[in-house]
Amino acid sequence: MRILVTGKNGQLGRSFQKIVKTNTEIDNNQSSNDFIFVSREDLDLSSESNISHYFIKNKFDIIINCAAYTAVDKAAEEPKLANQINHLAVKQLASIANSQKARLIHISTDYIFDGDRNKSYVETDTPNPINVYGKTKLAGEKALQTVMPMNALIIRTSWLYSEYGNNFVKTMLKLGKERDELSVVNDQIGSPTYAADLADAILEIIKHKKFRDVGQMTQIYHYSSKGKISWYELAKEIFKIEKIECEVNPISTQQYQTPAKRPRNTLMNKDKIVKVFNIKISNWKSSLKTCMTILIKQQ
Ligand SMILES: NC(=O)c1ccc[n+]([C@@H]2O[C@H](COP(=O)([O-])OP(=O)(O)OC[C@H]3O[C@@H](n4cnc5c(N)ncnc54)[C@H](OP(=O)(O)O)[C@@H]3O)[C@@H](O)[C@H]2O)c1
Repeated sequence: MRILVTGKNGQLGRSFQKIVKTNTEIDNNQSSNDFIFVSREDLDLSSESNISHYFIKNKFDIIINCAAYTAVDKAAEEPKLANQINHLAVKQLASIANSQKARLIHISTDYIFDGDRNKSYVETDTPNPINVYGKTKLAGEKALQTVMPMNALIIRTSWLYSEYGNNFVKTMLKLGKERDELSVVNDQIGSPTYAADLADAILEIIKHKKFRDVGQMTQIYHYSSKGKISWYELAKEIFKIEKIECEVNPISTQQYQTPAKRPRNTLMNKDKIVKVFNIKISNWKSSLKTCMTILIKQQ
C-alpha cells in the first residue's frame, strides 16, 4: 500500500510520522505499507496546478489529508486562501483519489458546528459554522462527499494538542511559568484530542477490514478524547500535572474577545467510530499526562 500523508510538519502529520517510524521499527521493517509524508514544499495545496502536477507522477492507494489552513482568527483576513486549502484543494484531492482509485481520509473539525446545543453532537447533526475557518472546513467536507460518495472517510476532531507546533497545552506551560495569574475561558466546552491518539486511531482504521473493503459509502466520524471540559479546566489540569503555581481565573467568552467567534459547546459523540472500527477512546487526563511527560522531558 502506498499511503500519502499531507501536512508533514503539522501537529497531526508529525505525530503520524513518529508512530509510523516506531511501528516500522517494532515490525522490523516488515510493514507492507509505504508511507510518503509531504510538506507544502512537495505539494502546495494553495495551488491547483501544483496539486495536479504532483499527482501526474505520484500514485497512491490511500491519501490522508492532515494539511489544512488552521489559523482560526487569521482566516477572516485570508478567506480566499483558507477556502482554497480547506475546500477547493480537498475537492481536487477527492477527484484525484477517484481517478487513482485511492481511498481518502480527510480531517475536519468540531468548528463546523455552531455550538448552541446542550448535548454532544452526532455525525448527522446539522452543521452551522460561525467563523470563516469553520465555513471553509464545512465546504471541504461537502465537496468531498459530492465528488467522492464512495471510498472516503471524514474524521472530525477537536482541540488538538501535541508535543509539536503551537497549541493550548504548550502555551499554558509557557505562560504558567512566566506569570502568577492567568484568566482562561470557562464557557467553551469540548474535549481535547492528543494528536498521537488520533494518528493511532487512523492507523487502526487503515488496518481494519471494514476500511479495506472497496465500494463503501463515504462516512463522517467523530473522534476526540473522553471528557467534557472547558479551556479553564484544561489549564488547571496542565498546571496541576506540572505543579505550576499559577492562579487560574475563570472568565467568559464575552470577557475574552477574539477576532473569530468560537462555538460554545463542541462536545462530539464518538459512538460511531467505536462501533464501526472498534477504536479505543482515551480519557483526556491520561492522554494529557502522556503528552506532558514527553514535553517536560524535552525541556
Ligand atoms: N489544531 C486544532 O485544534 C484542530 C481542531 C480540530 C480540527 N483540526 C484539524 O485537524 C487537522 C490537523 O490539524 P493540525 O493541528 O495538525 O494542523 P497544523 O499543525 O496547523 O498543521 C497544518 C499543516 O498543513 C500544512 N499546510 C498549510 N498550508 C498548506 C499548503 N498551502 N500546502 C500544503 N500544506 C499546507 C502546514 O504546513 P506548514 O507546516 O508548512 O505550515 C501544516 O503542516 C486539520 O485538518 C485541522 O483542520 C485541528
